[in-house]
Order: sequence, then C-alpha cells, then structure tokens
Amino acid sequence: MQEFLDIAVEAAREAGGILLAEMDRPRQISYKGEGSTDLVTQADQRSEAAIVARLRSRFPQHLIVAEEGSGDAPAAQGSREGVARYRWYVDPLDGTTNFAHGYPCFAVSIGLAEVDSDGHEELLCGVVFNPVSGELFTAMRGEGAYLNQKRIRVSNIHTLSASLLATGFPQQKRTESPNINYYWRFTLASHGVRRDGSAALDLCAVACGRFEGFWEFGLKPWDTAAGLLMVREAGGMVTGMNGKPYAMGGREILASNGQVHAEMQLLAADIAERAPFPPAVPR
Ligand code: IPD
Ligand code: CA
Ligand code: CA
Repeated sequence: MQEFLDIAVEAAREAGGILLAEMDRPRQISYKGEGSTDLVTQADQRSEAAIVARLRSRFPQHLIVAEEGSGDAPAAQGSREGVARYRWYVDPLDGTTNFAHGYPCFAVSIGLAEVDSDGHEELLCGVVFNPVSGELFTAMRGEGAYLNQKRIRVSNIHTLSASLLATGFPQQKRTESPNINYYWRFTLASHGVRRDGSAALDLCAVACGRFEGFWEFGLKPWDTAAGLLMVREAGGMVTGMNGKPYAMGGREILASNGQVHAEMQLLAADIAERAPFPPAVPR
C-alpha cells in the first residue's frame, strides 16, 4: 500500500506544480455542459494529463476514473478484462472556480479504492495536496491520516452550537439543489458555515480538526474519495445525510468529527421535512 501512496504523492506534487505555474499565466476558461457556472481551465487538463500518465506508467492494470475524462472511459470501467482490482479517483483541480478567479484555495485530490468481485469498494489510500499552502494530506487504510507527515485527528468539540462547519454548492443545476435551506439552518445552529469552494480541502479540514462537520449534495467520487478516507482515518465519521453508509459517489455526504454527527443528522432530517425541495428560486 505504501508504494501506491508514494506514487500518488509524487503525482499530486507534480500536478500541484503545474497548477502553480498555470496561476501565473493568463487563464483560459471554458464551460462544461449548459450555463456559465461549471468551469474548466487548461490547468485542469494539464494537471490531469500528468497524473494519469504517471499512474498509467506505474500501474498499467489499474482503472483510472478522472474528472476531465482522460482516464478510462465509463464503458471500460465495468467491462475491462479482470477489472481492475484497483480504481483510482482523480480530481486534478478541486476548486476550479476559485482557481479561475485567482482565489488561492484549491487542491489536487487522488484516492485509490480496492474493488472486490461484487463491485464493493474499499478505500486504500488518499492524497490531497494544496500547492499554495504546501499542505499535503495523506492517509492509508488502518494507518491514520497525516498533514505534512504529522498525525492528525478530528476535533474534540461535541456540540453543534460550538462547531464550525463547511459546505459547498453544485456547479450544475443549482436551482435544483436544496442546499440553501441547509446552509441557512446550519448557520443559525453553529459558529458558522464556511463555503470555500474545494470539497477535498473541506474534508481535510474536518480531518485535522479545523471544522467539526461538512455536508454537500451531488458530489462526485473524485471530489470525496481521498478526503473521506482522511476523515475516517483521523477518527471521524462519514455517512449519508441520514446516517446510512456513504457509497462512493452517493448523492449526499455528511462528514464530521463523530461527536456532532447525530446532532447534524437530526437537524438535516428536520430541514428535509420542513423545507420545500427544491426551494422556490426564480429561474
Ligand atoms: C467542486 C468543489 C466545490 C464543490 C463543488 C465541486 P471542482 O469541484 O469541490 O467545493 O462545492 O460541488 O464540483 O469542480 O472545482 O473540481
Ligand atoms: Ca472537484
Ligand atoms: Ca475538478
């Protein structure tokens, strides 16, 4: 497992260097899908190409699921011969909107899952690298989570009212997201809710005790794979909003230090019951 982590760290550091270099160049922004909120830059693509090339050359048998599409095509993901005991999840730039605006809060996120014959996935290792701050988060299953090689743990705060939380909003179809209701209620119930634009870094902030809890709707497996292992290995808890097990790429995620989990879940259930879904928003 250490070899996997070492290569992932090398890939994340190389990709982080690319992102920093791209920050200094005029940024070329284009849009994915409909509307003008889901951005992609040359930096996403260059970063991903470097990561995928490194993983492929070291682990040609492994499957790669990468956000910008340079990994294995979705069709190959279920059908490749002997598939793939190992599956990498790559987010080459988590926080593209921040990056595109020069807001220095973004990261490279790489997670590795082991897949059994029933398709059940177990995360083995993960890396989240913030090239601006130089913070490197790493975790291996059963071996703990680390920030720049120092062991990290979730916080010890046990009430929601004394908690600092984080969330994020989807890039696509925002009018269909119920999250504004949750944002409002959780803000009133806690010390506050940060919305910093990088789910991978939000999860790492839970893992190292900066935030007590994080939730979001509609994240993809590359957003969460590495960060959720970080939270678990730091002694925290990751489930769906209703406390049921979180399946990779699940529609919703609730991560916490464990101690405020039940309270967050309860409030989430109350919000879901009272608030209209989707909320009434002018289109
Ligand atoms: C986004 C970030 C953001 C979250 C969005 C994600 P991207 O990832 O993680 O924090 O709120 O839902 O899509 O697009 O910058 O890789
Ligand atoms: Ca992302
Ligand atoms: Ca991304």
